[in-house]
Amino acid sequence: MIRMRNIVFVAPFPMDATLRFAKGFARLENVRVFGVFQKPPMSERGRTFDDLVAVEDALDPDEIVSAVRRIEAVYGPTHRLTGVLEPLQTPLGVARERLGIAGPSAEVAERFRDKSLMKDHLRAAGIPCARHRLATSAEDALAFAKEVGFPIVIKPPAGAGCRGTFRLESEDELRSALANIRPSPAKPSLCEEFLQGTEQSFEALVAGGKILAHSISHYQPTPLEAVATPWIQWVCMLPLDIAGPDYDEVRRVGAEVVRTLGLDDGFAHMEWFRRADGSIAVGEVAARPPGGQLTAMTGLVHDIDIYRAWARAVVDGRLDAPWNRRYAAATIFLRGVGRGHVTRIDGLDEAQRVVGKWVEEVKLPRVGAPKADGYEGDGYVILRHRDQATLEAAVSFVLNTVRVSYA
Ligand SMILES: Nc1ncnc2c1ncn2[C@@H]1O[C@H](COP(=O)(O)OP(=O)(O)OP(=O)(O)O)[C@@H](O)[C@H]1O
Ligand SMILES: [Mg+2]
Repeated sequence: MIRMRNIVFVAPFPMDATLRFAKGFARLENVRVFGVFQKPPMSERGRTFDDLVAVEDALDPDEIVSAVRRIEAVYGPTHRLTGVLEPLQTPLGVARERLGIAGPSAEVAERFRDKSLMKDHLRAAGIPCARHRLATSAEDALAFAKEVGFPIVIKPPAGAGCRGTFRLESEDELRSALANIRPSPAKPSLCEEFLQGTEQSFEALVAGGKILAHSISHYQPTPLEAVATPWIQWVCMLPLDIAGPDYDEVRRVGAEVVRTLGLDDGFAHMEWFRRADGSIAVGEVAARPPGGQLTAMTGLVHDIDIYRAWARAVVDGRLDAPWNRRYAAATIFLRGVGRGHVTRIDGLDEAQRVVGKWVEEVKLPRVGAPKADGYEGDGYVILRHRDQATLEAAVSFVLNTVRVSYA
């Protein structure tokens, strides 16, 4: 008899980007997928999900545990309990431990969530990363800045999307930031030495604590510069060729990071810097699939079903299909000068005419929508090409042609 594996997938809301991951499980053999949502996507019942359970707060470990118990009462034991959202990772770890389900524990999840704890572990293992201090008072932060020198970065210990993250150039700037942030023992701020260099990412698909496959991307410019400069259209590019010795060091460090923080399965998404002298330093690492269209692009450059690849690693502990890099890909995040609401998007026809055949996915800014404040802008274009130089030229063309206006 075939043993069905029950997978419970948790998310507050059934956004399209989130459901892509749940659908990856549904494409595996001998798997039943159950959804736990605040707003269950009832139209997916009998399609992606064998059954759905509604909860009030999907981030509450108690509610996750009781939802899983309700599913188990009808369908039997759970093989894996999972979800892709960053703030879900620790609650999922807590629930796994209480229910005796395999997968990352709360302790492991917390090491990836809490950037101060993360860097304590990384530094103890000799892995290069920014010097840091969890400041519980303004004096603490000022003393740290004296030690490491300006610029420094100040951020929430478990933030996302650059929110509340600032680069400070001088003691005056730091003092005025501290007057707003007011760090305290109850609400500490993470201070970090500023890492100079270009920023890149390293994605690893992990099972049984081993890296099965990896990918690399380049951020152009750094997300922090993109947020600070509201018209910059941020680009995330996956180069065609990552096989060379230029990336040997990040491969070594990436494997060390996964081992040190103790990820057993799933995606590790690490951000790292390359300094002018060629040396590298880890920015941060998350134990979940990457956002920013990076997951989709990782599938596109290898021409694989990346969502099923993630599901396969989590459920069967193996690589679904080999990652042979055949393409370069990039996402251009559409933004423009000004504030207010989107009034028009220029240059689309021209861009379509010249690079349309290499467009894999588009989300256009919606006229009338308020301008988004993040570096991911109001929409995006994903391009893919077999030739690196052609891809780069196409990216420049879109950057110079498509313009979003606001009023
Ligand atoms: N110590 C540092 N030195 C230089 N730049 C930094 C440093 N810390 C953060 N940054 C910049 O700020 C960005 C956001 O920081 P970080 O990744 O820690 O926070 P986040 O809110 O989790 O971001 P995201 O969700 O966008 O990955 C980084 O991508 C980087 O550009
Ligand atoms: Mg980050």
